Formats: sequence, C-alpha cells, structure tokens
Amino acid sequence: MDRRKFIASVGGAAAFAAMSAGDKADALEHAMAQELDSIVVKPGLCTTYGIDQKPIERGRKRDKFFMMGHDPRLPRMSDKPTLIEFYKKRFGSVQHMLQSARLAKLNGLPETTVLACLLHDISVGGLIRSDHGYWGSQLVAPYVTEEITWAIKYHQSLRFYADEEVGYAYPEAYIRYFGEDFVPADYVANDAAYAKNHKWYMTARQITINDVYSFDPNVSVEIEDFEDIIGRHFKQPEEGLGYDNSPSAHMWRSMIFPNNFL
Ligand SMILES: [Fe+2]
Ligand SMILES: [Fe+2]
Repeated sequence: MDRRKFIASVGGAAAFAAMSAGDKADALEHAMAQELDSIVVKPGLCTTYGIDQKPIERGRKRDKFFMMGHDPRLPRMSDKPTLIEFYKKRFGSVQHMLQSARLAKLNGLPETTVLACLLHDISVGGLIRSDHGYWGSQLVAPYVTEEITWAIKYHQSLRFYADEEVGYAYPEAYIRYFGEDFVPADYVANDAAYAKNHKWYMTARQITINDVYSFDPNVSVEIEDFEDIIGRHFKQPEEGLGYDNSPSAHMWRSMIFPNNFL
C-alpha cells in the first residue's frame, strides 16, 4: 500500500492526523480492500507462451481496459486457424512431438499412429500441462478417429508403467523429474490397468515407445514434413479451429485468445 496515496485518500495529512486510532485502522483496511479489488489475478490455466504474467491493473479513470481479443504480445492467429498454424504460433514442445512422429514413421507405424505421436502432447505447451493426455484427447476428438483420441488420452498413464515385453521401460527422465519413490495417483494406475487390456492398447503404447526425449541435434524436422498425413487423417474444419462449433471449439479459442478477461 502506497503511504502517500493512502493519506490522500483520507483527505490529506491534516485530516489523517485528526483521526482517532480506530478510524485510521478502519480507513487503512478499507483502502487495502479496494486495492486488492483493483488487481486482477488470472488463473494459470492457459499458458502465456513464455510471456511473464503481470497482474492486470484496472485503469483508474477507465483509460485502460481488460484484455479482450488478439493479444498484441503473441503471434497473431488468422481468422481460420489450421492445425499447422497452431504448431507454428501456439504450441510448445513442438520439436519433441515432431521428433516422436518422425521416429514412429521410421519404425514403420501406420499413418494414424504417426499422427497420434505428432499430436500426443499438444496440451502441454498449448493449453494446460496437468492431465495433458486427457485435455489433448478432448481437443482433437472431433477431428481424428476414436482410436487416436483414445491413444492420446491413455498415453499419459501408460508412460508410468513399463512393459518390457514390447520394449518399453520406465523412463529414466521420470526418475529425475519425480524422484525414485514416486508413485502415480490412483486414477493413473487404474487408467493404465484399464488401457492394458483394451483393444487399442498398442496404439497408446506406441506413443510411449516413440516418445523421444533425447533429440538428435543433426536432425531437423518441420511440421510441413507431416502435411500429407495431417491432410489425410485430421479433419481440418473449414471455419477454422475454434470457430466450427465443435465440442472442443472453445478450447482452441482459449489458445487463440489465452489472456481474454472473459
Ligand atoms: Fe505426454
Ligand atoms: Fe511426449
């Protein structure tokens, strides 16, 4: 609380001096409550794509307005955004997903599985990290097969469980990230057990097998390398992602306008 501003708010130094101790305390409490009210703290749901998030201050004389519309700090999205545009302007972990898809392709997997690998972490750097497999699968559900949607959802829990028979070991990276004694939550264990007995288990498992963490620095992969696969297996809506009224359109819009006040 700025002392000078506070004294001015009660009518100046003379008025402040004339107040009783109780009135001063009341005035201070009132001023602090007002100050809190004028600072808007945005929940950290949507990523700010690497931009530091300062609280937005409301303009005293309505000379400032809350963020609504295109955020000038971010690459501007077109009126009909395509999936490729999101890779270029919004998603994070892009090289990770590209290299995973490249590996899946080199391993001779079907195009739909390659696409699942390409899409598997879009929520991580685009929308929300927590439960990224579940969010990611909802994002793409209207545009890809049920199998791809399913595989993206369950790759998250399957990552925590080795299946040596098909060549998947518990990731060393997870020991570094979460510690030796980390035990996944019950819902993760339950979902992994359910997935293990599902007819599409191997599709989700392939995402985890091809989930590369050590990049080959000599390889450069571009999203354009997958343009054909996207074209054949991702139903790009004509109106653009975010504007097609699909069940996940609002989630795509939240990535286009991540800092809107409402
Ligand atoms: Fe993932
Ligand atoms: Fe991944």
